[in-house]
Amino acid sequence: MKNLQESSSLPEYVLLICCFSLLFAWSGQAVASSNSCVDCHSNPKFVTTNKKLYTYYLRWENSVHAHAGVTCIDCHAGHPDKADKASAHGNSAKGADVALSAVYYSNIPNTCGKCHKEIVSNYKKSKHYEYLSKDNLLEMRGANCVTCHDMGMSAAEGNNLMTKAIASCKICHNYKTGNYPDIPKRIHVVLERYAAAKSLYSNLIIQHHDKIPEQVKNRLANSFLVIIDNLHALRLGKVEVDSNKLLVSMKDIRRKLRKGIAIDCN
Ligand code: HEC
Ligand code: HEC
Ligand code: HEC
Ligand code: HEC
Ligand code: HEC
Repeated sequence: MKNLQESSSLPEYVLLICCFSLLFAWSGQAVASSNSCVDCHSNPKFVTTNKKLYTYYLRWENSVHAHAGVTCIDCHAGHPDKADKASAHGNSAKGADVALSAVYYSNIPNTCGKCHKEIVSNYKKSKHYEYLSKDNLLEMRGANCVTCHDMGMSAAEGNNLMTKAIASCKICHNYKTGNYPDIPKRIHVVLERYAAAKSLYSNLIIQHHDKIPEQVKNRLANSFLVIIDNLHALRLGKVEVDSNKLLVSMKDIRRKLRKGIAIDCN
């Protein structure tokens, strides 16, 4: 009996340590993952006392970013481990009207560019970037990332991104400003082709996974990226040609799959 107790005391001891370290790890994680920015900004009291503030919170909560684990400090900086407002904001979480702020209009491309590197480097080749800080053209500045994307890029919204993007072009590209008024129509055509090609692509890849050679899959996936790159560099003519080619090629693949014709690597 004594032997049994002795022999069982070791595992119990180990178990106890395990429990403690688990508890410790768990509480440590709980502390690290608590986020004062979210805790405070999500307070429903702001619906009446500071509606705009709450709206910004909601935009984030419903965005692809929230779903992907991108949080306030990834764009705003600050100290989410501090509970009170002043220490949490510190010197970094500043408003959009402060020139040093990460979300000041001309700093926004670099802020987003911390993660979307490829897109920002293409954007920087565009007329939009060139005109972004032209101070003598306040009402004719180039668009920055949030002009087109808003912060409300909800994963659930899907293609609403397209509608929003086109609506944003019209703000500056219209007959009153005389700044390329044909652009909203042209981008509409492009984005429709792009969306059609993308949905064909995902359907065909799922249904006919093994009938489409890897080489072809890679080529198609790359075509989408090239379009997005040229779009951000505002090479609209190129994007018009490429989006048409891509859609035609997607439809050709669908036709072949339906008729049982093998997809070759070209
Ligand atoms: C205890 C509440 C509280 C915490 C914690 C908090 N905020 Fe705020 N925040 C506010 C309030 C209230 C405002 C509205 C302006 C004001 O009162 O200073 C605000 C304003 C802002 C603004 C707009 C700029 C400005 O100064 O008006 C940004 C950006 C911001 N907060 C980001 C953050 C980030 C990022 C964090 C976490 C690192 C954070 N906040 C933590 C309450 C808080
Ligand atoms: C993907 C980047 C990104 C994330 C994540 C993000 N924001 Fe923002 N936020 C911005 C940008 C860019 C602006 C400026 C938009 C504009 O010009 O209206 C902004 C504006 C704001 C403003 C208004 C600032 C002002 O001066 O009026 C507040 C408040 C704010 N964000 C709070 C938050 C809080 C709180 C979180 C997390 C719950 C958060 N944001 C997450 C990019 C982000
Ligand atoms: C900390 C990294 C990070 C920052 C900073 C960031 N993003 Fe993102 N973004 C992501 C991740 C992760 C995703 C979701 C995965 C993906 O689709 O790439 C995403 C998704 C997106 C999407 C949707 C892409 C899609 O496939 O539908 C857009 C649009 C976007 N971000 C724009 C912005 C803008 C505009 C800013 C700046 C205001 C910004 N991002 C800042 C990481 C970031
Ligand atoms: C002139 C408007 C405009 C500007 C400015 C702009 N974008 Fe875009 N962006 C678009 C459009 C349109 C799409 C394609 C939308 C779709 O998928 O239907 C897109 C797509 C994206 C995507 C998704 C790419 C993918 O693979 O699906 C990301 C991420 C993104 N943009 C980030 C940014 C960032 C970061 C900036 C700033 C450097 C920026 N955009 C500036 C219009 C713009
Ligand atoms: C905030 C204003 C603004 C918004 C919004 C805007 N643009 Fe522009 N865009 C400009 C300015 C300014 C120019 C440069 C005009 C010039 O060259 O005289 C420009 C130029 C262009 C050009 C011509 C580029 C070239 O090199 O010839 C294209 C294409 C373009 N924009 C596409 C778009 C699309 C697509 C959208 C919407 C998704 C959009 N723009 C939204 C301001 C804007």
